[in-house]
Amino acid sequence: MTRVIKTVKEWNELYKSENLSASQLGFVPTMGALHRGHASLIEKSVADNRKTAVSIFVNPTQFNDSNDLQKYPKTFEQDFAMLEEYNVDYLFFTSYEELYADKFAYQVHENSFSKILCGAFRSGHFDGVLTVVLKLLNIIKPGRAYFGEKDYQQYKLVKGMAEAFFLQTEIIACPTVRDEDGLALSSRNLLLSPEEREFALNFPRLLKANKSCDEIKFELEQLGFKVDYIEEYDGRYLGAVYAGKVRLIDNVIL
Ligand code: PAF
Repeated sequence: MTRVIKTVKEWNELYKSENLSASQLGFVPTMGALHRGHASLIEKSVADNRKTAVSIFVNPTQFNDSNDLQKYPKTFEQDFAMLEEYNVDYLFFTSYEELYADKFAYQVHENSFSKILCGAFRSGHFDGVLTVVLKLLNIIKPGRAYFGEKDYQQYKLVKGMAEAFFLQTEIIACPTVRDEDGLALSSRNLLLSPEEREFALNFPRLLKANKSCDEIKFELEQLGFKVDYIEEYDGRYLGAVYAGKVRLIDNVIL
């Protein structure tokens, strides 16, 4: 049974009563609309730790576009069934009021890496991500937290924050999970029409095609994608494109 915890006070009480300790607790933060990518993080946490906590919180401070926030898929019933199926011990399912009693007056800003790649196109996005992740890590107090490599920049920034602030949580990266046709799993894929989904397959295909970033960008644009960027970083090609109105990100190891 997955136990649902809604407040920080409740979590603190449970932490004591269940004798939880960082060394035995794994954590997977999510915004819900769970898919096999999340399942792979959960599986790793369940294998590595005595107990696993997952959070579901659609964090408004990381959305630079209010439409995007409104459209973000919400599939709570299925999500909860998945947590039970994967033997997740705790679901932290809290509210904006609980997490942001300060109304986002206190924020984590990263001044360098968060400004390039996705950060150059989504102003304030990583401030929101880092702030909510710091809050969640401070509340849950896990020894390990799991992040997908599909959001490679996010993973690197969270890891950097954990080091910069001497957090006691080890940040663990897990490989991107793809559908059989090559599309990286993402909650946003639910927003694609069948035609857009078919069209979107060109994105991973071209990223892996052994071409230069400029060539990939050019070919994607020729096909009709709006391309935010295709860039090389850390021995990877990273990119962000729009298939219709849906923004997709992906990266491949070179
Ligand atoms: O990757 C996500 O789902 C979110 O950015 C995260 C890490 C849960 C923070 O809201």
